[in-house]
Amino acid sequence: MADDGRLTLCSFVVFLTLSCVLGQTPVVLWHGMGDSCCNPLSMGSIKGLIEKQVSKVYVKSLEIGDNIEEDTINGFFLNANTQISMVCEMLAKDSKLQNGYNAIGFSQGGQFLRAVAQRCPNPPMINLISVGGQHQGVYGFPRCPGVNETLCDEVRRLLNLGAYIDAIQDRLVQAEYWHDPMNEDEYRKKSIFLADINQENKMNATYKTNLLKVKNIALVKFLDDGMVQPRDSEWFGFYNPGQAKTVYNLTQSKLYTQDLLGLKQMNEAGRLHFLASPGDHLQFTEEWFISNIVNKFLK
Ligand SMILES: *[C@@H]1O[C@H](CO)[C@@H](O)[C@H](O)[C@H]1NC(C)=O
Ligand SMILES: *[C@@H]1O[C@H](CO)[C@@H](O)[C@H](O)[C@H]1NC(C)=O
Ligand SMILES: *[C@@H]1O[C@H](CO)[C@@H](O)[C@H](O)[C@H]1NC(C)=O
Repeated sequence: MADDGRLTLCSFVVFLTLSCVLGQTPVVLWHGMGDSCCNPLSMGSIKGLIEKQVSKVYVKSLEIGDNIEEDTINGFFLNANTQISMVCEMLAKDSKLQNGYNAIGFSQGGQFLRAVAQRCPNPPMINLISVGGQHQGVYGFPRCPGVNETLCDEVRRLLNLGAYIDAIQDRLVQAEYWHDPMNEDEYRKKSIFLADINQENKMNATYKTNLLKVKNIALVKFLDDGMVQPRDSEWFGFYNPGQAKTVYNLTQSKLYTQDLLGLKQMNEAGRLHFLASPGDHLQFTEEWFISNIVNKFLK
């Protein structure tokens, strides 16, 4: 009898452990510029929302640095390649993520998490959701988010000085995805981050192999985005070279036609999702987020 009791208890424990292990896929969030891991009005509320909608899910909101202030400042002044290496290490060390995770990047966090997928396939990223990410970079920040005007003024000052100056590339995050359509050659040669992950400079076949391991990529574009120029960048579109009015889209780009990252293959397999949200940059409603992101990609 005692043995049976133990056996039952044991199976129950095994069942619980298994449902924990095989339970909801964890979620990793990467905040945008001017924001931090744990702002109760942004990432904090998203984390809470996901936890409420997906029971028992583990949500990790990435903090780049040792505290919230460092995290915010690093979003402007810590080399993006360094940030991505730091995140790869954090993810590899987190035992709860080892069976895979879904990733949601907000604004610049979108292109950063794509870089994580391309450079660091372990632990495996299952779905990648980019919310207002700038996958072909930006050529203009009409407005700067966040509350700190001092930081925004410094970003503008440095970009005006010259985004492709080596010293600025090394330390200004926004210069590292600054894409000047009047100077495509310089961009290709000098951009230490975006040109690299978009296979514009040297080709790295591993980037394609790794990105193809992601099951689904969802790209959210804000239809009235007043912060990202051009907003088409959120779907991998950009200005045609030599001007800043007309744009091309992903399907028309070399990245796609030569399938340098596997996006064509993914699109043809129905694994690439173009989502549109009404409103300005990151101004989605809770209902929109639940029905388009949580229910489709996190459950
Ligand atoms: C290609 O990318 C992988 C993953 O980041 C890296 O380990 C490798 O060194 C890169 N290869 C080249 C030639 O840069
Ligand atoms: C803005 O950031 C700067 C540089 O980190 C800091 O010195 C300043 O106190 C911040 N201002 C506000 C209003 O938070
Ligand atoms: C790009 O534009 C072409 C021509 O208008 C269209 O057929 C295609 O679906 C568009 N692709 C994307 C990704 O929007």
